[in-house]
Amino acid sequence: MSFLARTTRRSEDRNQLAGHEIRQERRSDMAARERLLDAAFGAGRFAKTSERLREGRKPALGLAFVALRSWRLVGTLRLWPVTTATGHLCLLLGPLAVATDFRNRGIGVALMWQALHRARALGHRAVLLVGDPVYYSRFGFSAENTGALRMPGPYEPERLLACELVPEALKGACGMIAATRPRPPRLSRLKNRVACSGPAIGQPA
Ligand SMILES: CC(C)(COP(=O)(O)OP(=O)(O)OC[C@H]1O[C@@H](n2cnc3c(N)ncnc32)[C@H](O)[C@@H]1OP(=O)(O)O)[C@@H](O)C(=O)NCCC(=O)NCCS
Repeated sequence: MSFLARTTRRSEDRNQLAGHEIRQERRSDMAARERLLDAAFGAGRFAKTSERLREGRKPALGLAFVALRSWRLVGTLRLWPVTTATGHLCLLLGPLAVATDFRNRGIGVALMWQALHRARALGHRAVLLVGDPVYYSRFGFSAENTGALRMPGPYEPERLLACELVPEALKGACGMIAATRPRPPRLSRLKNRVACSGPAIGQPA
């Protein structure tokens, strides 16, 4: 059993002992999750550069988690599909937040291990985040592989961290990190096909 799998098993056991449950986020969790994020990060949370890679998009499939304690949502963590300029497909992790009155009980750590384990099981190769190296180094994150990467806005380079789920997954990765373009809905794909099949209106043929 790998280090990641072993640690996740231990953290799942600890979750049960600690009396909290971690599960996939549901649509009905949205309001409580947003309240928790507002309380944790304040109104400025939408100004963060990481938000440019999340706004208007959905988290990666199966990679939005909540922590519950007696049916109250006390923790949230989501991961988002992104890609580097060199075409390295990655996940962007965050935001991670735990309710103030439930901090330092292992919920943040449990959410992190659950998310990393699930991401690897789903075939993802590397995870990026902007955050505190002291907190995230315990999960294998470092700035070792991120020096050549760029975020689409202001950020502190020493806080851009990566964790390779597959060895050397970030080898050669450089340039701007961008959101992975979501598949457009079927109707707009059809409109595009019609628009592309003849000369654009107002343009010479
Ligand atoms: C960071 C956060 C998610 C941690 O969650 P938590 O459930 O309290 O953390 P855990 O109980 O799982 O882990 C506790 C450990 O993390 C450490 N820790 C907590 N917050 C930390 C921080 N901001 N920086 C460094 N270490 C931190 C504690 O010292 C403790 O360390 P130890 O295990 O060596 O004693 C939580 O404090 C939080 O929601 N903060 C506000 C939002 C935030 O800053 N999110 C992270 C964005 S980068």
